[in-house]
Order: sequence, then C-alpha cells, then structure tokens
Amino acid sequence: MKKQAIGLLDSGVGGLTVMKEAMKQLPNESFYYIGDTARCPYGPRPEEQVKAFTWDLTRFLLDKNIKMLIIACNTATAAALPELKRVLKIPVIGVILPGSRAAIKTTHQGRIGVIGTEGTIRSEEYRKAIKKKQQQTEVFSQACPKFVPLVESNQFNSAIAKKVVTESLRDLKRQKVDTLVMGCTHYPLLKPLIQNVMGEQVTLIDSGAETVNEVSVLLDYYDLAEEKTDQPNERKFYTTGSVNMFKDIASSWLKMNEIEVEHVSVEELKGIELNESDRK
Ligand code: DGL
Repeated sequence: MKKQAIGLLDSGVGGLTVMKEAMKQLPNESFYYIGDTARCPYGPRPEEQVKAFTWDLTRFLLDKNIKMLIIACNTATAAALPELKRVLKIPVIGVILPGSRAAIKTTHQGRIGVIGTEGTIRSEEYRKAIKKKQQQTEVFSQACPKFVPLVESNQFNSAIAKKVVTESLRDLKRQKVDTLVMGCTHYPLLKPLIQNVMGEQVTLIDSGAETVNEVSVLLDYYDLAEEKTDQPNERKFYTTGSVNMFKDIASSWLKMNEIEVEHVSVEELKGIELNESDRK
C-alpha cells in the first residue's frame, strides 16, 4: 500500500529547515512540501490575508491525501493554527508552542529573546505561550523583516547578510538574553551569523526542529507512523514561484542531488475546494 504523506507548508523555502529535521528523524515517512514563494514574504501582511493564504496551501496538501499537517511557518502558525485545528480532521501542528517549550527548558536566567517576522512578533504568540507556562520569565522580542528576503534570494552567506544581521540584532544584544528563539523557519539558514552576533553564551532555539520532536511523538500517539517497508519514501516539493531558485536552495540545504520540484500557480491553489470529508 502507498504510504500516506505528511504535509508541510511555508511562505517559501523557510520550512525546508523543518523538512531537513523531519527527514532525519522520521526516515520511514513520505513528505509533501509546498512553499508559497510567489506571495512571500508573509511577515508584513495582515493576519487575515496570511490566514487565507495558509488555507490555499492547506487545501492543496489535503487534496494529496496527507495524514498530518505541519505548519512549518511561524507567521502562518500565529495567524491560522487555531482555525485549522478547529476545522480539520487530521492532526495539525504549528511551530510556536514547541519553540516556546524548548526555550523555557533551556533558559537559566529567565531571559529569553524571540526574533521573527513582523506578523509573528505583533501576534505576541511566543510571549503569551512562554508567560503562560513561566510567568516570571522575561521575554524580549524583535522583528527582523530584512532576514527573509536574504534567505529567499539565496544570499544568506553573503557580506550583506552579515551586515544586516549585525544591525538588526544590535538592540536585542543589549538585553543579555541567555536563550534566543529563531521564531521564523527561514532563520536557521542564518544561524552561524546570528550565533556570531549574539555570542557563544546564547543558546539558539530552532522552532522548526523542536516541532519535529513533537511530530514524532504525535505519529505514535495517533498510530500514524509508517513501518519500514520496501515502498520508497516520497519527498515532493511544490512552489508557487521559481522552480530553479527553489531547487538551488533546497538541494544545497537538504544535501539532495535529485530533487523533484513542481510549479503550482496561485490560481490553481485557489481553485481547489475543501472536501467535506476533511472537516471534523
Ligand atoms: N518562514 C516564515 C516564518 O516562519 C515566514 C517568513 C515570511 O514569509 O515572512 O515565519
């Protein structure tokens, strides 16, 4: 029998940082990934629009019969997770709670920094999640709107990137946090630069990677984990933007030579309706 895949979505290539960890931790699983590169970035957009875009990507993945959905994007998690969970039958996992839990576990001095897109920081979802579990912890948030365009244009190792990261984190550095949540799935591609600016004493939390630990537990809980079989695992990638740019970033980040990337237009996404059988 064909394996049922896990679906991942993001505004672009950021969710690949989650995908990389998922492939490592869950080698028997098949994955379908969609990046909405044509409409990236989501960060500066109004919440209602991000929610609508997230639904477009979700319907596309549901149409491919996924068994679980990972919202591999903090901005989309902040805007759409409660609604998706309320409406859909399959388990839906966001990246904010796992990132918050890991930060609480890591901090020694109760000083946590959170960096993310404007949408994620404006939503205050990290602050709320951390404070709910540990009221006394201080949370210092900083939106870094210039990071995502650097990653999407494959310039995350450049001299410009170094300058942008240094300038963007200047204020946050003064807060002397001991833990910093990379609250945007694009940011782990800038991790060496972020670590260099913040200093070795600051522990960086990759919200996406933390999410995969929880996905692994949930697969067992819902009895959805695949056994090791002779069936090949599928890893399929879709983008609403440039296939070549996506392929370049994905193959180097995931260290995969053969990578299957298909273009799907935004119009196509909008044409897919939510199947009644996907509702709770
Ligand atoms: N990767 C996304 C996140 O985790 C969104 C970046 C964007 O499109 O602004 O927030």
